[in-house]
Amino acid sequence: MTTASSLDVRVVDHPATRAWLTILRDKRTDNPGFRGALARLSSMLVYEALRDAPVDEFDVQTPVAVAPGARIQSPPLFVPVLRAGLGMLDAALDVVPDARIGFIGVARDEETALPVEYLASLPDDLSGQPVYVLDPMLATGGSLVHTLDLLAARGADDLTAVCVVGAPQGIAALEASPHRVRVVIGAVDQGLDDHSFIVPGLGDAGDRQFGPR
Ligand code: PRP
Repeated sequence: MTTASSLDVRVVDHPATRAWLTILRDKRTDNPGFRGALARLSSMLVYEALRDAPVDEFDVQTPVAVAPGARIQSPPLFVPVLRAGLGMLDAALDVVPDARIGFIGVARDEETALPVEYLASLPDDLSGQPVYVLDPMLATGGSLVHTLDLLAARGADDLTAVCVVGAPQGIAALEASPHRVRVVIGAVDQGLDDHSFIVPGLGDAGDRQFGPR
């Protein structure tokens, strides 16, 4: 894991994450295979994202003796960005079963690549609540900045984005935004093509899970 730039960007670079990311990148991977690989990789990314989460420590009685135990102090609110982020949610809940869940639906306009919101289902007050946004793709960054705007408007001040693959343009958009956010990501690729797709990327993560819109 490396940390780069004034923004807290943690690229999770591990043999297991690289192997699952390779399956996601491979255009021969079919929809079920893509969903499975996304789930496996997402649990690893969420696991890494929680590395510094504060814990409550308490003792637990094993069948043999008393042992020190711990639980996550403030279970996060997971916010998958529909559609593609849905494929990360169950994996995140496997890691933190008592997390809360909110939903945001944003689709990029195919002509302008600008985010169009169609759903926001979130608790009203998010102050003090760790929020983990789940979205496999960080391309122009428009969808994530819009999502962070919605969360910040509800008082969210402890923001983490968990992404599979991103582009430098998306990272730059976050840096230019007013939001303080940690980014935990599987890889930052070369850039964007003329259609604002990440290069080399993995294609359209929504379509590759669920078929074309
Ligand atoms: C993709 C992806 C992100 C967004 C990233 O969603 O899941 O939400 O694009 O692009 P950006 O950084 O340029 O905003 P898409 O709009 O394709 O919708 P989908 O998940 O429903 O397929």
